[in-house]
Amino acid sequence: MSDKVLNQFTPDVVEEEVKAAKKFRYGIIGTGWIAEAHAATLKLMDDVELVAMADLIPGKAETFAKRWGFDAEKIHFYPSHKELIDNEKLDGVSVCTYNATHAECTIYALEHGVNVLLEKPFTVTTEEAIAVCRAEKKSGKLLSIGFQPRMDNNMKEIKRIVEAGELGKVYYIRIGGGRRRGIPNSTFIEKRTAGIGALGDIGCYALDMVLNAIGYPKPLTVTGYKSAFFGPNPKYNNPADAQRFDVDDFAAGFVRLEGGIVVDFITSWASHINTPGDTIILGTEGALRIPSTECWNGSVGGQMTLYKDVAGLQAEVKLPLLPEPPKGLFFEKVRSFVDACRNNLPAPVPSSQILYNQAIIDGIVKSAELGKEIEIDIPEI
Ligand SMILES: NC(=O)c1ccc[n+]([C@@H]2O[C@H](COP(=O)([O-])OP(=O)(O)OC[C@H]3O[C@@H](n4cnc5c(N)ncnc54)[C@H](O)[C@@H]3O)[C@@H](O)[C@H]2O)c1
Repeated sequence: MSDKVLNQFTPDVVEEEVKAAKKFRYGIIGTGWIAEAHAATLKLMDDVELVAMADLIPGKAETFAKRWGFDAEKIHFYPSHKELIDNEKLDGVSVCTYNATHAECTIYALEHGVNVLLEKPFTVTTEEAIAVCRAEKKSGKLLSIGFQPRMDNNMKEIKRIVEAGELGKVYYIRIGGGRRRGIPNSTFIEKRTAGIGALGDIGCYALDMVLNAIGYPKPLTVTGYKSAFFGPNPKYNNPADAQRFDVDDFAAGFVRLEGGIVVDFITSWASHINTPGDTIILGTEGALRIPSTECWNGSVGGQMTLYKDVAGLQAEVKLPLLPEPPKGLFFEKVRSFVDACRNNLPAPVPSSQILYNQAIIDGIVKSAELGKEIEIDIPEI
C-alpha cells in the first residue's frame, strides 16, 4: 500500500498536542482505602493533574499524598469536601468517601460546577440518589458512578450476548454472587458511615452485572429480606468489629422489573454455604450461566456457558474468558470519566441507570423492615 493511502489514517497529532497542553485539574475527596486506586491511576495519566485532596481526618490527605509520591507542594489539602470545592477550580473530582457522605459531597460538587466520579454504591437511600440525579440535571455537569466491573470485557460480553438476541426474551434472572466468609472492616460495617452492608458493598455489583446487560428496565416491586447473623457475632468476626457491626451481612430479594422480567437476588458477606451459586439469565431462546467468584466482588468467576437448542439438539457453548484491559479496570474507570468530561461524551456509568440499582437495594431494605412487598416509586428527574 502506498504512503499516500496509509497517511489518510494518520491521527491528528496537532490536536492531540493542544489537548495535552491543558491539564485536567483533578481533586480527591476522601483519602481512605479506595482513593489509593484512584491515585494510582492518576499517576499513569500525563494529561491529568491532581491538585487538591480533602479528608475529615486531620493530616490524612497529606500523609496519603506523600505515600503515593505526589509532590505535596503542588497539592492543596482541605479538612472537608466543602473547603476543597469552594477554593479550587476543578475539572473533575473523585468522591471516595464512605457511603453515608456520597450524596452530600456529590451534590455540593455538582452545584459548584464540578464533574464527579462517585464511588459505588451510588448512595444509601433512593431519596438521596434522586436528589443527586436532580442536582446533576440542574448543573449540566457529568456524573459517573464508579462500577469498574463495567470495564471488564467479560461483563461487556454478557451485554453483547443479550443485545445480539442469543437469549431471546429474557424473563428470569437469578443472581448468585456472594461470599462464605468475607466481611470487611473499617468504615464498611457501621450504619453511621456505610449506611448499608453487603447490599451496598457487593450487592450493587451483582445487580449491575445483569441489569446493565438487559438495558436497566425500571424496577416495579420488591420483596426483601436482610439479616446480620455473622458480623456482630464474635464467633465469626473479630470481637472489636463484632461489637460495632450494625449493618446487613446477608440479603435476598425478589424483584419485578418492567417488561415482565423477575430478578431473584441474593448477596452475602458471610454464610455457611460455600457459594450462593452462579448467576443465571433465562431467555426464550437461550440461557447464560455466569460463574461466581469465591470472594464475590462483581467479577466473572470463570468461563460462561451459553445454552441453546441447535437444530433440535440441546447444546452448550463454553465462552472464552476474555483478558482484562492492559492497565486494569480502575484505570479504565477513571480514564473513561476524564475522557467523557473532556469530550462532552455521555457518562460511562450514568446515574439514570444506577438510580434503579439503588432503588432495588433500598427497596430490599425497606421491604425487609416492613415485612412485606413494596412498590418502587421513582419520580421523573
Ligand atoms: N470500587 C471499588 O472497588 C471499591 C472498593 C472499596 C471501597 N469502595 C467504595 O469507596 C468508598 C470509600 O471506601 P474506603 O474503603 O476508601 O473508605 P475509608 O473509610 O477508608 O475512606 C473514606 C474516607 O473519606 C473521608 N470522608 C468522609 N466524608 C468526608 C467529607 N465530607 N469530606 C472529606 N473526606 C470525607 C473519611 O474521613 C475517610 O478517610 C465506599 O463508598 C466504598 O463502597 C469501592
